[in-house]
Amino acid sequence: MGMTIDFTGKTVLVTGAGRGLGRNMALQFADCGADVYMGNRKEDQGLSVVREIEGMGRRAGFTRCDVSNEEDVAKLVSDAVDFGNGTLDVIVNAAGVMSVEDLMYTSDPEMERVLNINVVGPANVLKHGLKVMKAQHHGNIIIVSSIGGRDGGSMLQIYSASKAAATSLVQSGAKMGAPYGVRVNGILPGIIRTAMWDQILDGMARGWDPSNKQEVTPEKRDELWEKSVASMIPVGHAQTGKDIAYATVFMASDYASEITGECLAIDGGTTSGR
Ligand SMILES: NC(=O)c1ccc[n+]([C@@H]2O[C@H](COP(=O)([O-])OP(=O)(O)OC[C@H]3O[C@@H](n4cnc5c(N)ncnc54)[C@H](O)[C@@H]3O)[C@@H](O)[C@H]2O)c1
Repeated sequence: MGMTIDFTGKTVLVTGAGRGLGRNMALQFADCGADVYMGNRKEDQGLSVVREIEGMGRRAGFTRCDVSNEEDVAKLVSDAVDFGNGTLDVIVNAAGVMSVEDLMYTSDPEMERVLNINVVGPANVLKHGLKVMKAQHHGNIIIVSSIGGRDGGSMLQIYSASKAAATSLVQSGAKMGAPYGVRVNGILPGIIRTAMWDQILDGMARGWDPSNKQEVTPEKRDELWEKSVASMIPVGHAQTGKDIAYATVFMASDYASEITGECLAIDGGTTSGR
């Protein structure tokens, strides 16, 4: 008998589902039979994924939400519970932002922006998700952190610090949820060429200097990607949105029922041993 992951009859909430990895996760959960509710800061992106999922013959819904705003998150979670007729089985917080400014030149508002979305955001989602799941005595919360949070690097300092904090929230959340049958895990995506990576390539081309406004051509981005990024990954290629979505669905499934407080890197060996 093979292993099959079936989310039929389950309700899944994904934040940051408007594009990139969050969108891939939302589509993968729908493909496994789930009803999918989504939150995203940009409404047009979120609604277009609702249409994609409905086109697959699944139920989907959307609430505009900035995860750094607690009222938005409270409303999103409550709307998702209503959508699930009183039950919410899985929450994935994929919303996140990049900062490509060198720490020595970055501004206070930039630091606040990144910490609010990447740290306060998952904390808000954990807070409201745990309340609902504690009451229903089951559930899964997955926080999308980053391999950048595994240790401080010479680049992307504030982003990496924010993701280290997100990883810490996974560990605390797991201990808080365990007595109530709620699992909390982290996903650490490796290197996936989403729009976020184009921002990093631009930062790289500009020497991480926020005052450098030089235009970066698509050709320059591709050259940096090949020379300085993709070739450094031990398996010899970047990961895809599907790779990350498969691991996320697995972590939320009953096959992972004994896994909580764990952060799973899907990075082709990039942070092996860290
Ligand atoms: N792409 C990678 O290589 C990579 C690597 C490691 C970690 N990650 C993490 O994966 C997650 C998704 O990254 P991505 O590459 O898909 O990025 P992306 O920029 O392509 O997509 C992010 C999505 O989140 C939404 N969003 C941004 N801020 C939000 C907010 N405050 N509230 C609600 N929605 C918001 C955006 O509208 C967008 O739809 C992020 O948390 C990122 O840090 C990505």
